[in-house]
Amino acid sequence: MAITHPSFGTINHPSFGTMDPDRIIVFDTTLRDGEQSPGFSMNLEEKIRMAEALHELGADVLEAGFPIASIGDFESVHAIAQKFSKDGPVVCGLARTAPGDIARAAEAIKPAARSRIHTFVSTSPLHMRVKLRMEPEDVLALVTSSVTAARNATADVEWSAEDGTRTEIDFLCRCVEAAIKAGATTINIPDTVGYAVPEDMANIFSTVRNRVPGAERVIFSTHNHNDLGLAVANTIAAIRAGARQVECTINGIGERAGNASLEEIAMVLRTRHDALPFANGVATPNILRTSRLLATITGFDVQPNKAIVGRNAFAHESGIHQDGMLKDSSTYEIMTPESVGWTKSSLVLGKHSGRAAFKDKLKALGYDVGDNAMNDAFKRFKDLADRKKVVYDEDIVALVDDEVVRA
Ligand code: KIV
Ligand code: ZN
Repeated sequence: MAITHPSFGTINHPSFGTMDPDRIIVFDTTLRDGEQSPGFSMNLEEKIRMAEALHELGADVLEAGFPIASIGDFESVHAIAQKFSKDGPVVCGLARTAPGDIARAAEAIKPAARSRIHTFVSTSPLHMRVKLRMEPEDVLALVTSSVTAARNATADVEWSAEDGTRTEIDFLCRCVEAAIKAGATTINIPDTVGYAVPEDMANIFSTVRNRVPGAERVIFSTHNHNDLGLAVANTIAAIRAGARQVECTINGIGERAGNASLEEIAMVLRTRHDALPFANGVATPNILRTSRLLATITGFDVQPNKAIVGRNAFAHESGIHQDGMLKDSSTYEIMTPESVGWTKSSLVLGKHSGRAAFKDKLKALGYDVGDNAMNDAFKRFKDLADRKKVVYDEDIVALVDDEVVRA
């Protein structure tokens, strides 16, 4: 398969056939990095349900787990690989550099029709000195040996420079070159601790892609943590600088403050296609139900103001906004609720709501209100709204039932 692009060479990717150079591969790691966060672990049956939902959502690669980590993780990756033994996403298992890790990952992903080993090692001075207690030259040798071992097991190999954004750029380039020479087909430069700002991502990705021989033959991937709330912004900056795979999770779950959220990236790409003309396979109307499934399985709801999937993402309370929404929803919504799986926007009645929304609500509830009754009901609604955070339909019914005549 061939990818042609002025700034990309011709890429023969083992898993994806011929791809448009502006196609973004969505690599979902909900079942691996997402699951690694405290309280979010899932059992085998739950992981399979999530894997099915992620497939329906259109994820291209499912990082199903870290097979050496536990028997349970091995079994989950293996079961997901079996599930997609005919067609479906690429099933990926994570491995450190040790031969035993790589062999276990290879065994776990074996049944999949399309499979990948993702191997990684830390490359930043801090991680090499303190965590690995190794010299850079020894780390470099591990890059070659681990990628070579993974390539002997499968054609599709991803290599990651853990703590890549805090790695010295010359050393990062040497590691990437070694990984490509050993046969890696995807190169991932993670912002493991969520330290980078978008300008860093642009510099790192363009420098590596321009400097490293063979860079034009591989897919570059971006994997961002959200410690400074910049995971999605950094992902977008990396795409602009040539990354064509995004690593992300549903609801942005993941280590500490989480990973870049799949639903946010997908909707940035859809909503701002004018500025970011890239394609991807996400069926966005399936987003909400996938988000809800994960919340049900893990027992963690998303916060109300979470972009795209939070309860308030398409809810409006202020009178000015509600008035605008009743005239034309594009006044206060940049995407439709239906495009991500909600049935409709909601105008929530509270102390900031105005007459237009109140009247609209009465009409929807089946009340025909004359001017006097409306004035009286609206005043009593405002009194109630000062005492209650949200005024529900039942409150309105109780408020006006005696005063007005049902239509
Ligand atoms: O954040 C990270 O660096 C990782 C690697 C294993 C890719 O999750
Ligand atoms: Zn990570």
